[in-house]
Amino acid sequence: MRTQVAIVGAGPSGLLLGHLLLQAGVDCVIVERQSASYVLGRIRAGVLETVTTDLMTRLGIDARMNAEGLIEQGFNLATSGRVIRIDIAALTGRHVMVYGQTELTRDLMDAARDRGLEIVYEAKDVALHDVESGAPYVTYAKDGKAQRIDCAFIAGCDGFHGPSRRAIPASAAREYEREYPFGWLGILADVPPCHPELIYANTDQGFALASMRSATRSRYYIQVPLTDRVEDWSEERLWDQLAARFDPLSSAGVTRGPALEMSIAPLRSYVFETMRHGRLFLAGDSAHIVPPTGAKGLNLAASDVAYLSTALIAFFARGDEEGLAGYQAKALARIWKAERFSWYLTKLMHRFPDDGSFEHRMQAAELDYLAHSEAMQRVIAENYVGLQL
Ligand code: FAD
Ligand code: DHB
Repeated sequence: MRTQVAIVGAGPSGLLLGHLLLQAGVDCVIVERQSASYVLGRIRAGVLETVTTDLMTRLGIDARMNAEGLIEQGFNLATSGRVIRIDIAALTGRHVMVYGQTELTRDLMDAARDRGLEIVYEAKDVALHDVESGAPYVTYAKDGKAQRIDCAFIAGCDGFHGPSRRAIPASAAREYEREYPFGWLGILADVPPCHPELIYANTDQGFALASMRSATRSRYYIQVPLTDRVEDWSEERLWDQLAARFDPLSSAGVTRGPALEMSIAPLRSYVFETMRHGRLFLAGDSAHIVPPTGAKGLNLAASDVAYLSTALIAFFARGDEEGLAGYQAKALARIWKAERFSWYLTKLMHRFPDDGSFEHRMQAAELDYLAHSEAMQRVIAENYVGLQL
């Protein structure tokens, strides 16, 4: 088959890009390794910046999001019995929205069916070819049959473990990486959230985050050693830790209930510098990872796609190559600032195993300064709500 843009991966970046191209009359096909239900089963991000919600609005796929999403005017940084509220609405005039990645993905999948956006699920052995030539193509197997998509461009939206980044020779790129000595153990449960706003807590037992998906569904995370496995944690032990880390910080206290999902995610900062190689463009987690503190991963995927779709649309409409040439510089400028913020908030709010009493005092001094400085709160709020495109 032949198309204008072959998109590898049907996560948020691939789906958003596919819809934006389709809306502008650019032909595209998405190939995804997993089934649709597998993709929907992955519980990931929960906080959307306006960069992301604006794209959904531009696509006209925002009805359920606007009806069910929770507008958050502020969030909280908690430590040693003190809660510092960051009033993002007052400090920036903007807000964020709680609406799960699963729900956003479901809306984009449903709209793909309605609008005829072609997604090939369960595509095996996806491989990219001739990306340095003027005639790249993608191959895969579907139901045991070999398939080939010829295209003008390939968009690598296949996450951290996909084949797109690996199709770029090491000599053409540079990697920047930092791994953190802990992971996040998450639980999703149909119980009311312990507080109407998110709480990021730095406690003696380690970091904890109270988040939510709705007024009746909670999402919590705690910092755990990298050596821990989910099987090491009973639900009761996790609820005990959550109750200990949030009480008496949260007004209502933590309500316990059966886990809908429990998983551990490692924390990593990673940037792959080059986001373009010949006719291949990377977007989202295929090019960069942030630690989840600050909720930037999904939102960065959305900003990459906003830049890339504009550039591809200009190319197909007018043969204008300027946007494509400028994509990487534009995207990386925003990516590095989100990398900085996620790294900063991770360092401020976690207990690092190698830290001693001096580092703890530094964290305490920084949080004390933050509690009393509107200037510093504004910097945090501005980054949390998302930098402008
Ligand atoms: P992905 O969502 O990874 O999508 C890539 C898609 O490509 C997947 O559907 C994958 O199946 C597909 N793919 C992979 N290999 C192939 C192949 N060979 N062929 C075809 N398709 C392929 N961010 C936050 O802000 N907050 C969080 O709490 C948070 N939690 C996370 C937890 C985990 C375990 C992970 C991995 C990420 C988390 N993130 C979080 C980050 C956020 O979910 C990502 O930034 C976001 O999903 C990026 O979207 P993407 O479309 O670029 O990549
Ligand atoms: C969620 C995840 C995050 O990483 C974060 O910073 C805030 C919320 C969540 O899954 O709800």
